[in-house]
Amino acid sequence: MTEIDPRVIRNVVILTGAGISAESGLATFRDSGGLWEGHDPMEIATPEAFSRNPELVYRFYNARRRQMGDAQPNDAHRALAHLQRDYPGDVFLVTQNVDDLHERAGSAHVCHMHGELMSVLCQRCGARSPWQLDCDQSTICPGCGSSGDVRPDIVWFGEIPYRMDDIGRRLSQCDLFVAIGTSGVVYPAAGFVRKARQGGATTLEINREPSEVTSEFHQQRLGLATREVSALVEELLAA
Ligand code: APR
Ligand code: ZN
Repeated sequence: MTEIDPRVIRNVVILTGAGISAESGLATFRDSGGLWEGHDPMEIATPEAFSRNPELVYRFYNARRRQMGDAQPNDAHRALAHLQRDYPGDVFLVTQNVDDLHERAGSAHVCHMHGELMSVLCQRCGARSPWQLDCDQSTICPGCGSSGDVRPDIVWFGEIPYRMDDIGRRLSQCDLFVAIGTSGVVYPAAGFVRKARQGGATTLEINREPSEVTSEFHQQRLGLATREVSALVEELLAA
């Protein structure tokens, strides 16, 4: 097994998924009782679903935005914020999550590749605007003032995630790639480990159970994110 040698790690890329927010009480997608258990993602998280039934989609994301407000960051979020603050190298945090728990734990420059619940997107002018309230047909775009064109700023299935060029560059230049709390089912995020390995990085998966792409990682640490991420950060900062 390729050991992680912190002395030679300059650039770290960390990818998080819904599993890092599970211990904060936010549902994941594919665990039992997950978000996709009660809903068909194709009926909610696609542009076609939104044009077919906007009310259902507005309601789904408004409920998740409200739930998020009641959740608190956990030790895994806090450990990553600590690493970003104190690590001598560069730490790039890219998340598939649309919650703001990384930010509320103190992380800065979080790359939300699938968008954010605390933002709305205008289909007329393309403006992405910070948004804390419910969003529906009557929401007026802060960018162009039109209403009826504002949607949740979430990257849906079939749409291109944000900042893929930036992410690709970071993956090919990093020395350590860590995936935390993601099932490795959805691309392009599930393919990040391969890109990082091609760039020569050591790759580590932290997850409660093996993911769909677990075999592509040099090292796997099975367990709860709050425990495993805190231990990894301690290891990296101790070097
Ligand atoms: N600690 C560590 N891992 C955990 C924990 C925990 N406390 N709880 C759950 N997990 C793991 C699960 O075992 C699972 O492998 O987190 C993973 C969550 O997987 P998903 O629910 O599929 O979430 P994610 O991988 O983020 O989904 C990716 O799919 O629907 C789209 O856009 C949506 O961003 C989402 C994407
Ligand atoms: Zn607009």
